[in-house]
Amino acid sequence: MTTETLEYQSGFRNHFSTEALPGALPIGQNSPQRCAYGLYAEQYTGSAFTAPRHQNLRSWLYRIRPSVVQSAYRPLAVEGVATAPLAKPAADPNQMRWDPLPVPAEPTDFVDGLLSIAVNGDAGTQAGCGVHVYAFNRDMTERFFYNADGELLIVPQLGTLRLRTELGELQVKGGEIAVIPRGIKFQVRLAEGSDAARGYICENYGSPLELPGLGPIGANGLANPRDFQSPVASYEDLEGEYELVAKFSGRFWVTQLDHSPLDVVAWHGNYAPYKYDLAHFNTINTVSFDHPDPSIFTVLTSASDTPGMANLDFVIFPPRWMVAENTFRPPYFHRNLMSEFMGLIHGEYDAKAEGFLPGGASLHNCMSPHGPDADTFEKASNAELAPQHQGDTLAFMFESRYVYHPTEAALDAEIRQRDYVDVWSTLRSHFDPEQP
Ligand SMILES: [Fe+2]
Repeated sequence: MTTETLEYQSGFRNHFSTEALPGALPIGQNSPQRCAYGLYAEQYTGSAFTAPRHQNLRSWLYRIRPSVVQSAYRPLAVEGVATAPLAKPAADPNQMRWDPLPVPAEPTDFVDGLLSIAVNGDAGTQAGCGVHVYAFNRDMTERFFYNADGELLIVPQLGTLRLRTELGELQVKGGEIAVIPRGIKFQVRLAEGSDAARGYICENYGSPLELPGLGPIGANGLANPRDFQSPVASYEDLEGEYELVAKFSGRFWVTQLDHSPLDVVAWHGNYAPYKYDLAHFNTINTVSFDHPDPSIFTVLTSASDTPGMANLDFVIFPPRWMVAENTFRPPYFHRNLMSEFMGLIHGEYDAKAEGFLPGGASLHNCMSPHGPDADTFEKASNAELAPQHQGDTLAFMFESRYVYHPTEAALDAEIRQRDYVDVWSTLRSHFDPEQP
């Protein structure tokens, strides 16, 4: 696999067809008696067989060896990664904020560089999600990983990742996102020029992320399907000693392989990793007054069983013009049913004067009040309301109907800002019954 000028296939969950050798894909059928080049056919599904057609997800992989060629799984100790439901501690209504996870001093790969911040729902019932941050400085070489507990929405903040997957390679940097479907085997390396990487992951236990409906917005807007990119087939035929790490039902397991699992020569189907450049997001916002609800910035959504109540919404706060008249322009003070985990990729977030850093995170759980800090309130209440370009900003939110349970590791972490609630302590009363 080359690292330069990767090719991609465009479209959101199109029925892609790709082959690294001519004629490797069967024509007109999925599983011929003998596959070209002596390959094995293997189907990989991301939905029940009987899911409605528009939600049915599957790909056919034509590979050198089928996935069953592996040793027995053995338990593997991996520190720092949690899965819902947690035995303890209980959920916590306190507003929380963390500084960026430091890049490790010791050689650490992607799997060992994970730290769970909060989890919700129940992975076993395919509801909720896990929120993790990662920081690593070492390539995975003889090690591969897959996650049976959910798909991985990866939001890089620092460094460029090479996501080498069974279905081909994706490169993603800060400002882009990638989604690795449940079960896909992959390894993470650093792209040329990156010594270390840091970012966020939402492990979605629920229904796979999809594009939100656009309603009255119409046919175009927000994230457009053509801007999503999936890899083209690319394989390696390597024998040696490899390990495949699996996250399954909240625990880690490892199995030995005598070959690289990146041996898929061709594949077709609509279930594949994808990437998206958030700069392509067509931001819709007010051109008259008031601050719209953040749902206007939804990039991807995972539905729950209740219409309109997302298992998970991935929402961004991208660079944009602020033009609202007679309006308090930053986010309003609020208390929500939905629980909100936020991160910052670059720049400043318009509700906070300081303390919310690129690579940092905040958590505002169900009905816990939050909003602008005192400095932001003062400034925005008195600002001259000319059109203003908010250029250097890219924040995001993993919003869920399920209350987030912070992990013990996140509660005890040195990077947690224990005085976060004080950012609102200087908001004073301006009330004067004589002044309408
Ligand atoms: Fe909020």
